Amino acid sequence: MRALYWPSETELREVRKKVAEISGRSAEEVRVVVSPYRICPLGAHIDHQGGTVSAMTINKGILLGFIPSANSEVLLESGQFEGVVRFRVDEVQYPRHAIRKSDNIHANDSSQVQEECNWGIYARGALYALQITGNHLTRGITGFICGSKGLDSSGLSSSAAAGVAYLLALESANNLIISPTDNIELDRIIENEYLGLRNGILDQSAILLSSFGYLTFMNCKTKEHKLIPPPKSHEFKECSGKKTYKILLAFSGLKHALPNNPGYNRRVAECKEAAQILLDASGNGELEPLLCNVEVEAYRAHKYKLEPNLARRAEHYFSENMRVVKGLEAWASGNMEEFGKLISASGLSSIKNYECGCEPLIQLYYILLKTPGVLGARFSGAGFRGCCLAFVEADRAAEAASIVRKEYQQQQPMLANHLNRETTVLVCEAGDSAHII
Ligand code: GLA
Repeated sequence: MRALYWPSETELREVRKKVAEISGRSAEEVRVVVSPYRICPLGAHIDHQGGTVSAMTINKGILLGFIPSANSEVLLESGQFEGVVRFRVDEVQYPRHAIRKSDNIHANDSSQVQEECNWGIYARGALYALQITGNHLTRGITGFICGSKGLDSSGLSSSAAAGVAYLLALESANNLIISPTDNIELDRIIENEYLGLRNGILDQSAILLSSFGYLTFMNCKTKEHKLIPPPKSHEFKECSGKKTYKILLAFSGLKHALPNNPGYNRRVAECKEAAQILLDASGNGELEPLLCNVEVEAYRAHKYKLEPNLARRAEHYFSENMRVVKGLEAWASGNMEEFGKLISASGLSSIKNYECGCEPLIQLYYILLKTPGVLGARFSGAGFRGCCLAFVEADRAAEAASIVRKEYQQQQPMLANHLNRETTVLVCEAGDSAHII
């Protein structure tokens, strides 16, 4: 079953029309990659440590319309950003941080010149990932990319949605058949190796594996995943505590791309430091310093050896893993009240233990918690900017949205005034996995 309402026929028609204009070809030839944004109700900030996470997509995201080029040229325009991105798929791509460091080495490489057009980095990153894994590309694409209005850089993983979209388009243009699991790895290469962000595989796993209405469960150490079906709708009504839900997104007005924020990589480094101390203390110092390699018993026995800040990072990891396990049970039995409570506890641990929220997001979190109808809330994404997500009782969603909008306007008038009124608080539905139409 496909997700409701997105993309609409009108949205698809507009994207096709735009690509037809840019390429001078007919709209019927245009293929469209549908790459949804994701939320992570439980399992925040532990994917990079090999933890277990839960995720789903929403019925909003990125559309990339494209036509395979007759040659190796890539030509892209964007609905959000200025400029035209141009490069060739037979130009060798280098990691972005390497390009920044070496002023002269690639001075004659036309891809260097194109660095000015910053939004093109995800397309080049996709090419880089395909090249270094041995894929030989001969055909470029002419394309137009656009995201759901006002939702880019909002903690909904627009970067992974863009990376996945370019991967799928380049693969389709070059007749490459690549599995979702391999695309998860290719997107990891874009983020970790090309952009230098030390994040985990939560975002692209959600985008590539999710299925409408299911909760995606992913073990980031073993890479095993399961799709947990929703309880049948009649079961929801049978006993109290079982409620149908909608997803509410409340935006802070703070935006910036994650790779430009040093806070994310700093927290990853702290988790690794904690893991190394715990592994050394338990005689497993030779293992990779990731918290997933530390047994829970070893954590309990040796946690007093950690400095207070490292102890808090480790506490977040171990408590969040537990919340994911409990959350799966709650989800599978349709107990949305319990599921919601776990989400809010996860949000609190992000604030107190992982210490990654900023003031406006923390305010939004508390506003959501006291709003009638909200089952649970937390920051979306890394928590340095963007939005909070909430699961809200379906029949109280509209009222909850209007309360949150008013409260946030009072607490953060400057930021709230920068937001587009229509998208300050959004009520969404679950989505599907990335695919090509
Ligand atoms: C960002 C990262 C993910 C994950 C989340 C927090 O979205 O890209 O890998 O760590 O933050 O859960």
